[in-house]
Amino acid sequence: MAKLHLITYGCQMNEYDSERVAGLLKAEHYDLCERPEDADLILLNTCSIREKAEDKVFSQLGALKRLKRARPDVIIGVMGCMAQLQRGRIQERAPFVDLVFGSPAIARVGELVARVKGGERAVLETGESPLVKITARPETGRLRAFVTVMEGCEKHCTFCVVPTTRGRERSHPPEAIVAEIEELAAAGCREVTLLGQTVNAYGRDLDPPTDLAALLEQVDAIAGIERIRFTTSNPYNLTPRLIRAIRDVPKVVEYLHLPLQSGSDRVLERMHRGYTRARYLELIDEVKETVGEIALSTDIIVGFPGETDEDFAETVDVVERVGYDNAFVFRYSRRPGTPAADMPDQVADEVKARRNAELLAVTGRVAAERSRRLEGRVLPVLVDGTSRMDAREASGRTRCNRVVNFEAGSAGLVGSVVAVRITQALPHSLRGTLVDAGIPAALPAAALG
Ligand code: 5AD
Repeated sequence: MAKLHLITYGCQMNEYDSERVAGLLKAEHYDLCERPEDADLILLNTCSIREKAEDKVFSQLGALKRLKRARPDVIIGVMGCMAQLQRGRIQERAPFVDLVFGSPAIARVGELVARVKGGERAVLETGESPLVKITARPETGRLRAFVTVMEGCEKHCTFCVVPTTRGRERSHPPEAIVAEIEELAAAGCREVTLLGQTVNAYGRDLDPPTDLAALLEQVDAIAGIERIRFTTSNPYNLTPRLIRAIRDVPKVVEYLHLPLQSGSDRVLERMHRGYTRARYLELIDEVKETVGEIALSTDIIVGFPGETDEDFAETVDVVERVGYDNAFVFRYSRRPGTPAADMPDQVADEVKARRNAELLAVTGRVAAERSRRLEGRVLPVLVDGTSRMDAREASGRTRCNRVVNFEAGSAGLVGSVVAVRITQALPHSLRGTLVDAGIPAALPAAALG
């Protein structure tokens, strides 16, 4: 067996893609190895969402250059979003790279590697190939897994590279997804996160068309799976049917990630998001009314071109109104080929930094308030191991995805759902005490509160 070393940057979908590639290459007799020094093939799975992500890859390539010099026979490949977007710069700055291929070409990784082994240099592949599911998971027996249910994105948000890097929207057929999750469940997986750039647009391109709500019901029927998450939803495609599915499908957790990006209509319009501030807030009300107790999280960009202090204040206001459990704040980063990169009124770095810090203070306070509300409640916790801080404590997650540490030997509990009384909300986790081992897995959090 030859050895493959995989380095993965970026989002959950990249993690999934890396597993897919590992599975496909296993069929070509490559086994995963921990250290790049031991590898015959090194693949960097890259991210282009912000400039910083790309900088990391270029510096990693700098380190690999030395390795390649010492061992010219090692094959070095760059895959993923940056391969698609920055192929020219990769070839220019790292001419020793043997293979560059984008995410849409993943299914052909075996053939591409074979071409390099056959003596072809600088193999470049940015076209598409058929959709593939994971063929062999490198690691089995995990409690949680990601499962990509659709690829690509049809939205054209003016800040975003994803439509360029990941191609058009393509859904995997429900049968393939269900089969994959059945396999995961049989190997001990208890929680799946269904992934798509606009996951709530799932299925509309299939024949016959279907939707995410229908898929959630199918996944709910799989024995062994306790919890179902999905990400990322776009407000534009959030339907009453999906909101009802969050309430009605037992294993679907009461958690929704709904990127806001900005709370200002003027900025939202220039971002081409397809909704207004009022519409977003209306959706949030509908979600809260329908589902009741639900944890909300979001993505926000500060310093988008033309964003004024007033626009920014509107974003802060939405954060206060919604009360997010978690918010990811990003400074706007100019991405090549995107419309916003050419907008004339770019915001200065100092202004972005100030708004970033200000918003983080607000989102942190709001999240802490949300956390404190959980104190005193009894919540179902899926135990996944021992606490990072104290090996005598067990650790797990609530349905709202908070980490909970509690006193208990974790040995017999891993993989099961137990009732934990929350005693204290800390900045990044909750503390609790074990009430009872073995409560029904799909009991809604609210019913126990
Ligand atoms: N600059 C900063 N943040 C961005 N995101 C996407 N593109 C950019 C960009 N050019 C953020 C969005 C998205 C998240 C995954 O990354 O908030 O939801």
